[in-house]
Amino acid sequence: MDKQLQEIRERILRELRETKSVQAIEQLRVQALGKKGELTGILRGMGKLPPEERPVMGQMVNKAREAIEQAIEERVTEFRRKEKELRLAAETLDVTLPVEERSQGAMHPMNIALEKMIDIFVGMGYEVVDGPEVEFDHFNFELLNLPKNHPARDAQDTFYVDDNIVLRTHTSPVQARVMTTRKPPIRVICPGRVYRADEADATHSPVFHQMEGLVIDENITMGDLKGTLDEFARQMFGEGISTRFRPSFFPFTEPSAEVDLTCANCRGKGCRMCKGTGWIEVLGAGMVNPKVLEMCGIDSKKYSGFAFGMGVERISILKYNIPNMRLLYENDLRFLTQYR
Ligand code: DAH
Repeated sequence: MDKQLQEIRERILRELRETKSVQAIEQLRVQALGKKGELTGILRGMGKLPPEERPVMGQMVNKAREAIEQAIEERVTEFRRKEKELRLAAETLDVTLPVEERSQGAMHPMNIALEKMIDIFVGMGYEVVDGPEVEFDHFNFELLNLPKNHPARDAQDTFYVDDNIVLRTHTSPVQARVMTTRKPPIRVICPGRVYRADEADATHSPVFHQMEGLVIDENITMGDLKGTLDEFARQMFGEGISTRFRPSFFPFTEPSAEVDLTCANCRGKGCRMCKGTGWIEVLGAGMVNPKVLEMCGIDSKKYSGFAFGMGVERISILKYNIPNMRLLYENDLRFLTQYR
């Protein structure tokens, strides 16, 4: 029995060294230590031994069992370690490989200018408001003191949807919408798309962008308008750039002004861009016509206000020295990606 035990122990340990998988080890364990296993068989056979030999034999069987169990455990651990090594090797990534280059988008130069314009006015306490692009005649013209027979309503300039509805020709109708729905103090800007029945050329497009500004409160003066636009010019184009007001006419403002900026190209000395004048015309502005205030339900004896409207493309073109407005609409990436 002694010999038989020795033989089993050695054979199991040898076979264990030759196993090729965790399942094979398990099989071997059942074969040696399971209920019907070889060592269990020996324990059962001990009943036939003389009683005095049994404890010695029992001890030997236990030792063999322990040795086999320990060997199994080691072998399993070894397999697990190898498996892990294989998996890690298979999952290795070469982090030094060059990545596929992704093209990065760039902001459109007009939007860069627009965001800057908005930032400047928001910094001065203005709120950004929106209005519809498909607009009632009532807001686009009527409330702005452009009555039915006004030349600016010429079908040549305006896209009519029907008798009462147009594609807004400017952002000024948002002024009227704000004045009819809010009480002063009002301080808003309204950037957005506008439409004119124009042929596209170097300075015109049937769709373009404007930004309207409107301030209404007690004691608002033309001086406030001038100071505001001077500050805008300085922040947008830099130190030394300011505004010049020339008398003009808009039905919705009285008095009205065409506003020029110091030519940023020559800083006012006179160059080709400003045709030698040192000034560049950029926007229209004025004191909100009391008639407009009243039509919109604001007491013109108590309140006064100023308004201005500027072309966003125009500001962007001046800011970035863009030679032709068409470049802003053609979406040529060679052009667009220059501005970041
Ligand atoms: N709405 C005018 C245009 O489209 C621009 C303008 C001029 C807006 C004077 C104003 C303003 O608010 O006061 O040409």
